[in-house]
Amino acid sequence: MKNLKGKHLVWLHDWSKEEIETVLDTALKMKSDFYAGIQPRPLAGKTLAMIFSKPSTRTRVSFEVAMTQLGGHAIYLGMNDLQIGRGETIADTARVISRYCDGIMIRTFHQSDVETLAKYSRVPVINGLTDLVHPCQALADLMTLREKFGRLSGLTLAYVGDGNNVCHSLMIGGAKMGMEIRAVTPPGYEPKPEITRLSQEHAEKHGGKIVITNDIDQGVKGADVIYTDVWTSMGQEKEREERLKVMRPYQVNGALMTKAGDKALFMHCLPAHRGEEVTDEVADGPQSIIFDQAENRLHVQKALLALVM
Ligand code: CP
Ligand code: NVA
Repeated sequence: MKNLKGKHLVWLHDWSKEEIETVLDTALKMKSDFYAGIQPRPLAGKTLAMIFSKPSTRTRVSFEVAMTQLGGHAIYLGMNDLQIGRGETIADTARVISRYCDGIMIRTFHQSDVETLAKYSRVPVINGLTDLVHPCQALADLMTLREKFGRLSGLTLAYVGDGNNVCHSLMIGGAKMGMEIRAVTPPGYEPKPEITRLSQEHAEKHGGKIVITNDIDQGVKGADVIYTDVWTSMGQEKEREERLKVMRPYQVNGALMTKAGDKALFMHCLPAHRGEEVTDEVADGPQSIIFDQAENRLHVQKALLALVM
């Protein structure tokens, strides 16, 4: 077990395999305790500030409930609530909020804003999604895979869609845990080269593998898990029509799941645009674990908050 007190979660790149395992082990224990009626309140009297510049269902509700269950309190701050909207700097915002609160969660566009917040904050900063990465999602996904398979090392996950924030965090986190992560994307929609390079380094160190391909058949064949996400991420709305056309062959439907094999599980970070990146047949089918995955956002974030705060 690693001591994580005070650590920021800007992205999983600067978290070690042992640190990630500490969060996953704690989360699995807290989840089973929760179902056994055991609810410790390690964050009594503590407050989490939650800054949102983009909408959210899961992240907002799961973080807020997590703080309540841990005995603390969460404050929701939309962009119209803060003076950032009127020109106060991120650095000053960090300096001020961290004099009141014990942790800050932020969902925003630019990764550099999370870095700035972390630089000037006295309390841990948690990235609740940027255009670049979504580390809390990847932690919940890794926890869910540990539950379903009992291990992470040696598993193959095929992410089918565009190389976005969710894909990037799965690549970084999965590679560190010794998984094979395949990004199966249309040409021109591959993950960012910098993320691919960093993930490949982590994979080499930890016995994992990173595969980038445009070939659906090869990409999904023999995978333990098929994963997808919306084709148009928040902030990309202008590209929606073009993306709908380009991504169409990459829809996760019954035929694609057959190519993967009947043992493959289906995952999606949600929200799903049913009929676009995934069909109802798959999302609601026997191989789907999407709602266990969503539930685990709560458990893994409780572990994260308890450990860093
Ligand atoms: N998966 C996820 O982060 O969902 P929200 O956008 O609803 O928070
Ligand atoms: N890639 C999606 C994830 C939503 C949780 C987005 O950024 O909109």
